[in-house]
This record gives sequence, structure tokens and C-alpha cells, in this order.
Amino acid sequence: MSVVDVMEQLTDYTIGHFAFEESLMEQCGYEQISQHKIIHETFTRKIKKYQQDLDAGEDIAERLLDELKVWLVEHIQKEDFAYVGVVPTKPEKGMISKAIDRLMHPLS
Ligand SMILES: [Fe+2]
Repeated sequence: MSVVDVMEQLTDYTIGHFAFEESLMEQCGYEQISQHKIIHETFTRKIKKYQQDLDAGEDIAERLLDELKVWLVEHIQKEDFAYVGVVPTKPEKGMISKAIDRLMHPLS
């Protein structure tokens, strides 16, 4: 798999994952959602910058790998873990499907 393929899949995954998380946080009434969205936006901007650098012919592989290592440790272990407590262990019926529906039809 090339760096171009990795960037394409990373972009798709990031957009989908963030939208799902934010939808779930909204439904659970997570109070820190605004701060969490800012972190997501910052990471999304970084991904766009990597894409621009890649399009400009730069070799981004090593920088991208370092960025993802930091992201996985810092964001998922800290910020994502912080909202786990507000998501019910047994989500109310339909909560997950509503979150998925919002992800698939964000403008409806
Ligand atoms: Fe997150």
C-alpha cells in the first residue's frame, strides 16, 4: 500500500470516526464536546496539510507515522477515554443506530 493510499484511507476514516464520536457525545450529553471538537478540527487540519505536502511531492511517510503514533497515544488514551464514562454500558435502544444514521445523513 502506498502513502497515497494510506492518506486516502486515513482521511476517510478520520472524517467518519470523528462524526460518529461527536454524534455519540451529543446524544449522551457530554459536556466537554466543544473542546473535543476543537481537538478533532486541529487533527483534521493537520491531515489536510499532510495531503497538501504529499500533493506537492514531499515524502511525508516518516512525519505522518510519527504524527499517528502521538495521536494514538495522546488523543485516544486521554481525550477519547474521558468521554467513555458518559456513554452508557448498555446504550438506550437505538442510540448507536441513530449515531450511525447521523453519520450517514449529516444534513438531514
Ligand atoms: Fe475523539
